[in-house]
Amino acid sequence: MKRKGIIMAGGSGTRLYPLTRAVSKQLLPIYDKPMIYYPLTVLMLAGIQEIAIITTADEKWQFQRLLGGGDDLGISLTWLVQQRPEGLAQAYILAEEFLEGSPSAMILGDNIYFGEAMQERLERARDRVNPTVFAYRVSDPERYGVIEIDDAGRALSITEKPSRPKSNYVMTGLYFFDGRASSIARNVRPSERGELEITDIAEFYLRENSLVVETLGRGYAWLDTGTHDSLMAAGEFVRTIEQRQGLKIGCPEEVAYRLGFISREQCLRLAANLAKTGYGAYLKDIVG
Ligand code: TTP
Repeated sequence: MKRKGIIMAGGSGTRLYPLTRAVSKQLLPIYDKPMIYYPLTVLMLAGIQEIAIITTADEKWQFQRLLGGGDDLGISLTWLVQQRPEGLAQAYILAEEFLEGSPSAMILGDNIYFGEAMQERLERARDRVNPTVFAYRVSDPERYGVIEIDDAGRALSITEKPSRPKSNYVMTGLYFFDGRASSIARNVRPSERGELEITDIAEFYLRENSLVVETLGRGYAWLDTGTHDSLMAAGEFVRTIEQRQGLKIGCPEEVAYRLGFISREQCLRLAANLAKTGYGAYLKDIVG
């Protein structure tokens, strides 16, 4: 069965108040594009064309105004609503009908990935039968799901926001799970903070010895954008790389064109709609 995608773009964004009182976090700008373009592009780079986007009820229309049904990008978007932010594992319950038992790749709407071999890493995870999560070294592991790794690089445990982290490696916001994810999620009980934790699903796979933990090393950037400082830092990071290289990060039109989801003519049409911007000029440029 073909792997389908999910973007988790609900949440309350309380750490970004007052920015997120009236606007979804995932629509805030990261330099030259809305935040959700970055995780969307990651799923597209994995070759995934059927994607469900989960938002709050109030914000759904704003996302739809931006992305519609996905036809412009040669993908198909399904819109799902999460009434309350009851945890990341809830994605698999909300998306159960959409998934129809197929394997999935779920990504958080506020996560940004960048690195040379990202596309190959994504394709490998997509084609693997076993579930895959990505580990990344951070300086503040207590804020995340911490992965304890043995000398041979095998994962021993995954603990959500531990007060005493057993390592500096944490689980990033991208999960390749198999067709059982929805039924596993249905058996997850709310944690002390009242959320259905994604770490519980990862732990299920870990216990049955099927989970593959791939480490994204020093050559990768994994940024989240949940606080004022990290939001600004992500924008600066993208601007620095884009201006230096003249290539864009997280440009869904470009990925759609390069992977053959859309034709040259369609890419030029999208460029024409953005004619007054450097973004439009860029799209015109890449099709040559
Ligand atoms: P968080 O940053 O953990 O939560 P949040 O976005 O609500 O922000 P804050 O902590 O400032 O209140 O969420 C990570 C990502 O997952 C983010 O893109 C929002 C999304 N999310 C949901 O869509 N539903 C949920 O139930 C949760 C917990 C998060």
